[in-house]
Amino acid sequence: MKEGLPLAGVIGWPIKHSRSPRLHGYWLERYEITGFYIPIAVSPDNLGQALDALFLLGFRGINVTLPHKEAILQLATTVSDTARAIGAANTVTFLENGGFHADNTDAYGFRENIKQNHPDWNASEGPALVIGAGGASRAIIQTLLDEGTPEIRLSNRTRQRADALAAHFGPRVVPVNWEDLQSGVAGTVTVVNTTALGMSGQEPLQIDLGNADPEAIVCDIVYVPLETPFLKSAAAQGFRTVDGLGMLLHQGVPGFRQWFGETPVVDANLKAHVLGE
Ligand code: ATR
Repeated sequence: MKEGLPLAGVIGWPIKHSRSPRLHGYWLERYEITGFYIPIAVSPDNLGQALDALFLLGFRGINVTLPHKEAILQLATTVSDTARAIGAANTVTFLENGGFHADNTDAYGFRENIKQNHPDWNASEGPALVIGAGGASRAIIQTLLDEGTPEIRLSNRTRQRADALAAHFGPRVVPVNWEDLQSGVAGTVTVVNTTALGMSGQEPLQIDLGNADPEAIVCDIVYVPLETPFLKSAAAQGFRTVDGLGMLLHQGVPGFRQWFGETPVVDANLKAHVLGE
């Protein structure tokens, strides 16, 4: 075991908008753990050296955010199956004798957030529509595949990125032209927005969910605002919804458990704290 107080943090470039320090800070206080979780700005050029330094300083682990989530895989001693499948990692744990293990907990966060809110969600009962083909989309597709989704319709403004993900994840992922987004809704039991549409200052995501399965779960990864226009209209049409903040909160659980030895809960108090209320 390492000497000294338990230390962890988050590295990114830039880092000042990260909510992770608020998240882990809340849990440290709640569980009365004398340890620290800090934001650290690390430029892409310094990633390897920064990790070596964090190990020497006694850090137990670190969350990794943009732009390091892919590059970190090349430096890791071991990589979890999930991180390898997604092609990116967000959670690093240092090994006793140097080096580190890289994992991706975004897929876990997405799944746990839905299951906490809607325990009867069964993604294998019908197709999913995933809107957007960026980094978050990869983790969400991995979860949907793991949950047995028979067909994942993937629509992205830039078609090439959807094609690349279909090639990566295999035939259950079916690209849909951006102009034909609406056609991807029919019969879906899971609909997820992974684009920036609906974020404050952006256009809303315009889609009619009318012919989705009436029991469908509709999710957004945007959480500013917490209730996006997309979620608002889905709720008004009677669909069950899941907001984007929960995914962020749940993805922090495995790292906190590994570094600080306690399995933290995600509840309304945490949500309010991270939102800064
Ligand atoms: P993240 O890691 O959050 O997924 P990202 O990798 O930058 O971020 O991906 C952003 C996603 O939002 C992409 O699917 C992007 O579409 P493009 O691949 O065409 O860029 C999508 N996106 C962002 N702004 C958008 C807009 N105004 N209209 C449609 N899609 C948009």
